Amino acid sequence: MSIRPEPWLILGALLLGLVTAITNPDSTSQALRLDWEAISPSRDLTYYDCYDGFQCARLEVPLDWANSTDNRTAIIAIAKLPAVVSDSDPSFGGSIFVNPGGPGASGVSFIQRAGHNLQNFVDKPSRRHYEIVSWDPRGIGHTTPSSDCFHSNLMSRNAWLLEERGNGGLDKGLGAIKHGLSMTKGLSQRCKDSEDQHGDAMAYVNSPSVARDMVQMVDKVDELRKREDTSKHDEPHLELKKRTGKPEGDAPRLQYIGFSYGTALGNYFATLYPGRVGRMVLDGVVNADDYANGPGWLSSLDDTDEILEQFWRGCHEAGPSVCALASASDASASDPKGRFWSWVSHLDEAPLPVVTSTGFIVTVTGNDIRKLVGATLYDPVPGFKSLANTLHQAMRGNTTSLITSMLAIGHIPDLDNTCSDKNRTAPLSFLPEAHFAVVCADGDDITNKDAAWWDKYVHRLMDKSKLFGSYWANIRFSCSNWPFRPNLSFKGPFKTPKAVPSLTAGHPAAPLLFLSNRLDPVTPLNSARAMASDHPGAALIIQEAMGHCTIGTAASDCTKMIVADYFEYGTVPSGETICKTQCGPWDENCSGYPTVDVNRSKSTRGQFRDGSLSSAMRMFPLGV
Ligand SMILES: *[C@@H]1O[C@H](CO)[C@@H](O)[C@H](O)[C@H]1NC(C)=O
Ligand SMILES: *[C@@H]1O[C@H](CO)[C@@H](O)[C@H](O)[C@H]1NC(C)=O
Ligand SMILES: *[C@@H]1O[C@H](CO)[C@@H](O)[C@H](O)[C@H]1NC(C)=O
Ligand SMILES: *[C@@H]1O[C@H](CO)[C@@H](O)[C@H](O)[C@H]1NC(C)=O
Ligand SMILES: *[C@@H]1O[C@H](CO)[C@@H](O)[C@H](O)[C@H]1NC(C)=O
Ligand SMILES: *[C@@H]1O[C@H](CO)[C@@H](O)[C@H](O)[C@H]1NC(C)=O
Ligand SMILES: *[C@@H]1O[C@H](CO)[C@@H](O)[C@H](O)[C@H]1NC(C)=O
Repeated sequence: MSIRPEPWLILGALLLGLVTAITNPDSTSQALRLDWEAISPSRDLTYYDCYDGFQCARLEVPLDWANSTDNRTAIIAIAKLPAVVSDSDPSFGGSIFVNPGGPGASGVSFIQRAGHNLQNFVDKPSRRHYEIVSWDPRGIGHTTPSSDCFHSNLMSRNAWLLEERGNGGLDKGLGAIKHGLSMTKGLSQRCKDSEDQHGDAMAYVNSPSVARDMVQMVDKVDELRKREDTSKHDEPHLELKKRTGKPEGDAPRLQYIGFSYGTALGNYFATLYPGRVGRMVLDGVVNADDYANGPGWLSSLDDTDEILEQFWRGCHEAGPSVCALASASDASASDPKGRFWSWVSHLDEAPLPVVTSTGFIVTVTGNDIRKLVGATLYDPVPGFKSLANTLHQAMRGNTTSLITSMLAIGHIPDLDNTCSDKNRTAPLSFLPEAHFAVVCADGDDITNKDAAWWDKYVHRLMDKSKLFGSYWANIRFSCSNWPFRPNLSFKGPFKTPKAVPSLTAGHPAAPLLFLSNRLDPVTPLNSARAMASDHPGAALIIQEAMGHCTIGTAASDCTKMIVADYFEYGTVPSGETICKTQCGPWDENCSGYPTVDVNRSKSTRGQFRDGSLSSAMRMFPLGV
């Protein structure tokens, strides 16, 4: 996700994950930058060692896939975790591409924290071994051109975030919406000025362009493998070619895992290039039709408030020794729940001023608490207990942990580091503008809507989720004055022809495999069902767990086995399959957690590595 947007209102919010990255230069990103500059871009794939055990490449592609006379280029930053066996080993299973969502999250940073775990998840020891490949999609990270409208000026970025924060939530009414509209107009001007100075990027970062880049990457990986095979004078890849492309002329095929927004991207790819699909796993499923059409993002929050209900139920059952918000005298879950909401209403009426240890003044509102709780629903297993602690302390007047958490998820910019960071030149791993650029270009044009239209939109989302609706409205609100429209556009319907395992041009090699938790706060099961129904033969795995995306939120040997078999054989269980998980959010000493820790802590600054609300560090709104 971490993978949000918008305006200024909630920019901050959107930015949750983003801001964390933005304000937290760390040694990793510095090292990164040096590595990347040393790599010369090329039209063919050439890998260089990078990081620790990874390989990186910079692939040159046309900036505008729709105009062959336009000779401008984009340079895609690619990182790969090699397979644990050599490419010529009979158990080598080829490349699996992964996208972490956002949109706007960096695949290069994702693969560093999650690559090994993902590889363990899909590999079958001594039977099948994959290399894991990811990339910074257009506009993002080490890929150029960048969508950075502020060009390293962290001060102006944070000034903008603070004003957005001061404006409050979009649910505050027409006044806040009007101020927010003015702020999105201001950002639009800032981004246009930036393009005038630095060249075009924003019109070319949308999902159809990225899907075309994926075709190019798959082709280049195949070419590289052929070059290497020839130089080795053997023919080790017959088995592999059967899955990733026929020797006789059929085009190479993609093996892919997309998370969250990455499922929408997968849907664009599968629909536009069905004959290029080898294997496709979509985890945490976005309703791509809702994403690409109409006001947009209306289908995300079907189950959000139900997860919060489960939080109260679980807290009450676990009792005060496990859930700090419970009290021995509570008769039911309604008691802690009632205390919480009356505290939040109180904060709405009378926000709480906090002076931080370094002297900054932060005004904590009910809106802050709703966003923080909403963010925690992304990852209940590690998140619920620490959320309960944080809220319990804050309700008793100790806001230390609350402020730490708000900083961690980017509700407040990291002012302490703003000045020392003023000359920062390393690319940020998550840029709000990169997120807006994709969301706004993929969705319908909603500029020129007035405040009343937006007020109605905000309320539609709040009717879906009392907790998260207002925050969620920011995602599309960020498009309210967005000035760039793409030429290469696609609106669906998102569907594929029947899979043909023997490989036929124009048909996927295997049906699509969809994964969803029973309750997902931002990509509900309803969306997974709707998407799966448009792909013949597709399977849906429902994991009995809560949180955003299945892999990484709960351990399930069942899910793991189905995914590994799918990559090996291209087969899926028929229809819907239910997978149990090993641990719940309130379990103590549960040994089954985690199977795949996507290791969010790695992307955050040291002071948050103590585990405080690490679950909240995801890339909002639709990423992992
Ligand atoms: C294609 O690119 C060329 C060269 O940049 C430009 O002159 C032309 O206007 C472009 N065509 C379209 C349809 O954008
Ligand atoms: C790109 O095309 C323009 C004319 O459209 C030409 O002036 C320029 O030299 C070309 N650049 C490259 C790198 O080929
Ligand atoms: C407030 O909470 C923090 C940790 O969350 C703790 O270290 C500190 O001692 C607490 N302060 C007081 C006055 O209890
Ligand atoms: C940033 O760079 C400018 C020009 O190189 C320099 O004058 C200034 O001191 C630097 N600021 C910081 C905080 O390093
Ligand atoms: C889209 O195409 C039109 C001409 O058809 C051209 O004028 C315009 O510059 C193009 N825009 C982009 C973003 O390529
Ligand atoms: C969990 O482990 C801790 C320390 O190892 C122990 O004190 C506690 O009783 C255990 N809890 C349960 C429910 O097993
Ligand atoms: C997660 O990241 C931390 C900090 O970089 C590291 O110490 C830890 O080993 C990582 N865990 C996994 C499972 O990769």
